[in-house]
Amino acid sequence: MARRTLIAGNWKMNGLIADGIALARDVAAGAAAAGKAELLLCPPVTLVSSVAAALKGSGVAVGGQDCHAKANGAHTGDISAEMLADAGAQYVIVGHSERRTDHGETDGVVRAKTEAAWRAGLSAIVCIGETLAQREAGRTLPLLEAQLRGSIPAGATATKLVVAYEPVWAIGTGKTPTVAEVADAHRHIRAVLGGLTTGADAVRLLYGGSMKPANAPELLAIADVDGGLIGGASLKAGDFLAIAAASTTN
Ligand code: 13P
Repeated sequence: MARRTLIAGNWKMNGLIADGIALARDVAAGAAAAGKAELLLCPPVTLVSSVAAALKGSGVAVGGQDCHAKANGAHTGDISAEMLADAGAQYVIVGHSERRTDHGETDGVVRAKTEAAWRAGLSAIVCIGETLAQREAGRTLPLLEAQLRGSIPAGATATKLVVAYEPVWAIGTGKTPTVAEVADAHRHIRAVLGGLTTGADAVRLLYGGSMKPANAPELLAIADVDGGLIGGASLKAGDFLAIAAASTTN
């Protein structure tokens, strides 16, 4: 099953307007030369519409980093999936470990947000991943399975769903699992998805956690790794584009 590689930048809480637009323009300018992967930028919500404008015509997509489960209402400070779509987003990240930790988001909350994304016509990038303690206790694969079963609503398709495997201990630390560990995790995720949706073979599975130009070639070459969710390295256009260029297969 051919799955187009997706290289997604999660800018997290970084980027004022001028810098964000300049970064988006640099990515857009280098996108064509960086190969065939689909590129996606997920800036802070204040930048979604201006980054969408800066990327217009480049083929680089825009996404949000979170959304509320409801379409509108009395939820001070929150942003709905409909608002993100209205601002130009095609994707939204849900259930990032920083949201799970900082905001107490459970699998049930992530599932409701995924449904909200679909309601608004967005693709949801659902994040899962184990802590170091869970890995050391040998609980990684059951934990990933429980997160998938709890976070993914019925009716997932390859256009509506992307899954990002982000080991919590690899995020922003410079540490990554071995190629064999990533391969095991992704193989298991694919198998569990097979029980949840008929189109599991076509769903893209991203690896995230300290992906850089230096380690991208070996990570992106793993059979069930269909792209990356990039934090720190997505804040430099050259690094982000170099990661994209490392995915040579499709
Ligand atoms: P880093 O690439 O900075 O480790 O962040 C990964 C991440 O959390 C992307 O969502």
